[in-house]
Amino acid sequence: MDKQQTQKRIEKLKNLINHHRYLYHVLDTQEISDEALDSLKKELFDLEQQYPELVTPDSPTQRVGGAPLKEFKKIKHQERMLSLNDAFSKEDMEEWLKRISKLLTPKEQQNVDFYCELKIDGLAIELEYEHGVLKTASTRGDGTVGEDITQNIKTVQSIPLSIHNSKFLIYDSTFVVRGEIFLSKKEFNAINKIQKEKGLPLYANPRNVAAGSVRQLDPAITAERRLDSFAYDILGEANINTHEKKHTLLHDLGFKINTHNQYCASLKEVIHFHEQAQKLREKLPYEIDGVVIIVNNNSLYEKLGVVGKTPRGAIAFKFPQNQTTTKVLDIKVQVGRTGAMTPVAILEPVALSGITISRATLHNEDEIKRLGLKMGDTVIVGRAGDVIPNVIKVLPELRVGQEKNFIMPRYCPSCKTKLEKTEGDVVWRCPNEKCFARQRRSFYHFVSKAAFNIEGLGPKIIDRLLDEGLVSDPADLFELQEGDLAGIERFAEKSAENLITSISEKKELPLARFIYALGIRNIGQETAADLALHFGSLEKLKSARLEDFDAIANIGPVVAASVHAWFGQKENIRFLDKLLKHGVVVKNPAKKAGGPLTGRIFIFTGTLESIDRNLAKEKVRDLGGQTTESVSANVDFLVAGLNPGSKLSRAQKLGVKIIHEKEFLDLLT
Ligand code: IVH
Repeated sequence: MDKQQTQKRIEKLKNLINHHRYLYHVLDTQEISDEALDSLKKELFDLEQQYPELVTPDSPTQRVGGAPLKEFKKIKHQERMLSLNDAFSKEDMEEWLKRISKLLTPKEQQNVDFYCELKIDGLAIELEYEHGVLKTASTRGDGTVGEDITQNIKTVQSIPLSIHNSKFLIYDSTFVVRGEIFLSKKEFNAINKIQKEKGLPLYANPRNVAAGSVRQLDPAITAERRLDSFAYDILGEANINTHEKKHTLLHDLGFKINTHNQYCASLKEVIHFHEQAQKLREKLPYEIDGVVIIVNNNSLYEKLGVVGKTPRGAIAFKFPQNQTTTKVLDIKVQVGRTGAMTPVAILEPVALSGITISRATLHNEDEIKRLGLKMGDTVIVGRAGDVIPNVIKVLPELRVGQEKNFIMPRYCPSCKTKLEKTEGDVVWRCPNEKCFARQRRSFYHFVSKAAFNIEGLGPKIIDRLLDEGLVSDPADLFELQEGDLAGIERFAEKSAENLITSISEKKELPLARFIYALGIRNIGQETAADLALHFGSLEKLKSARLEDFDAIANIGPVVAASVHAWFGQKENIRFLDKLLKHGVVVKNPAKKAGGPLTGRIFIFTGTLESIDRNLAKEKVRDLGGQTTESVSANVDFLVAGLNPGSKLSRAQKLGVKIIHEKEFLDLLT
């Protein structure tokens, strides 16, 4: 972006951020996530860093909090209540240190150390004590003037109403303390449970409730909420030379301080603290959204000063975001294995959940319409769990007029065949069975873990093998020689040898895997296993008539038609023959006169530690049992590994017996 474009972008960002901040801070409502808003603020901050002359006094980076509510008395803060800039990565932190180091002498640079605190997801308050007695409590407000919430804050049990430590009476005990008011996860859940019972809307997060609770006009309501506090700063204590010592003093005065906070001598230690805090996060009884890093030496902190409304000497080092904002540069259509066209957003690379992403799935044409997405739009992207990132929301406010509508192609981008869509379906498909892009996908599927499971043969290498013309279908793999690979650029001898070995090791496989590997539409692992068990051999499956499928439990007419049609095609039979000719051996399932697990249905969720999940499923079937992918009351056992998914809670609701890996392994023996 040149300067003029940047200026336009800054204007739009400012308006959008102000809109959402108003909703959030003044009206206590929320349209986009905190994470998405943080991401927009970060972009604005970065652009302003690039062009400091474009910073205006009304920029959101120059203001803190919202305007005070009308109903409360106003309190002017003795010193402005500042806010913090955000960092999201190690690189951001290194940049921060570089930025501040420039303002220090070489000697000072050598001595910079840090105090690191958990960043509590609550709201900031200021407490004024006069002669040892709490006189006022106020919210941050706009940073200069806040709302008088003294009566409400007096209901918070962890805040001392007066100071009793006689050691400190020498100070006349007139000082200002700052800290965070928050609600524990437990209290939050209890409050939401009541909301639900009353049919009222649920609160988004503990911070919203805490903010709402301290701004109650009736302190009795605040008292019910059982708010808690951590103190993190004390003003006007000139004799204290480090931030760490301020915390000790706060503790001695009777305030609650966070015991996880820690001194760090170097940036390396800071990074480590951040990692540890992330691990601790789940276990804590309250929400944190990052850590706060403060230059420990108070005089250096003062020397670094303030820019806008944030101190240079402190920064919020946030945890990886599960939502962020970025730009959609383009929308491409990907051809799937079954010919399905999936539109994919090509993104300006951005960090999400700790890794950089450049693509997000858009699922189908209807989804693009639903989102109202145009190419060039700024969007909120997110990811839930391990799934592929997706576009959550478009921010049309940031458009400049050059965004382009996406038009779903009528022809396959790979083979140019006219696309088809059956009635009621949302997906466009390439009907050409020989479409190169479809074949490429089938190829990836063929070697994947649950199919032939050829280690070291990922999409990149397959692409190269295809591009170099070394293979034209998966059957060719089994004829490949080490020397064939030598010609491929950057393919080391050792990896060529390894690849050839792993291909030959996987020549022999059970019928169920083989059927799955063929990539027939509608045939997942479970169906492939059912077919294998029923027909018992490839020959029988190949020659089955459509009506022969009727007798198989779990197999409906759509699946039957799909399998039957596949085996009815000459090219497919030729491909099967080629595989067998190239040495593939298909092992038929043993005829079971009822194994020990006969009649038992298993479902798996989470990671198993000592056995591969596909292998576990095979073992179940070998012993006469069945496996499934969908939870129902018919399931006998759910095997829960590490980090189980949503299947677990559904199974619990249905009363399915839950077993863990050890018990499962016991069942097998
Ligand atoms: S130190 C200049 N320490 O995070 C502000 N803040 O924008 C220095 N917060 O407004 C604040 N936990 O409400 C500090 N341990 C902590 C904190 C913390 C939460 C909040 C605070 C502040 C915001 C940063």
